[in-house]
Amino acid sequence: MILSPSILAADFSRLGDEISKIEAAGAQWVHIDVMDGHFVPNITFGPPVVKCISKVCNLIKDVHLMIDNPEKYVDAFLDSGADIITVHHECNMDYEYVKNAVKKAGKLLGISIKPKTDVSVIKEYIDDVDMILLMSVEPGFGGQKFMPDSIERAKEIRKIYPEGYLQIDGGINLSNAPLVVEAGVNVLVAGSSVFGAEDIEKTVQEFIKL
Ligand code: DX5
Ligand code: ZN
Repeated sequence: MILSPSILAADFSRLGDEISKIEAAGAQWVHIDVMDGHFVPNITFGPPVVKCISKVCNLIKDVHLMIDNPEKYVDAFLDSGADIITVHHECNMDYEYVKNAVKKAGKLLGISIKPKTDVSVIKEYIDDVDMILLMSVEPGFGGQKFMPDSIERAKEIRKIYPEGYLQIDGGINLSNAPLVVEAGVNVLVAGSSVFGAEDIEKTVQEFIKL
């Protein structure tokens, strides 16, 4: 199982150490939540942080853009070392621009849907994208409770999108992870349950064994 720990729950004053811990424990990706205070009611960080992360690890940098007009910033994130760029179906964007920029850079493209968005909208993207990101909380904050109807939604997505990465994000822990994996998810994002764990290494290892 691929685990993409979300650094939103890490100690930003020791970000390099926190990332080293998850890398040493066997996580394959690192999930970087970019928020603009507009598409979502919270602000995080931008390309310079992605660039610093690129220097301290060999993890796949999985950049989740919760921003409007990602076409304005996609090139900067790609130049900073992003390996996967995920944008939201619900945001204002020039999708063609984003798609072409990511493809031209030889990187992976993801499309994300919020918990209330009809899963059928993914049909318009499945020929282009490498990953569907199913939000299992309203985007904007870490530490929220997993929405259980996400399990059915994951199964629905798998009927439309049987191959490729299906990532889930929001409230994932070691109790609900087996259920979403059974529903067809193959990439787990986890913030608080990884960085808030007493034993980060053991927790990462339990996730990747799923
Ligand atoms: C929420 C973010 C998530 C968040 C997950 O908007 O997209 O990636 O950091 O954090 P947890 O695992 O704590 O719900
Ligand atoms: Zn995220």
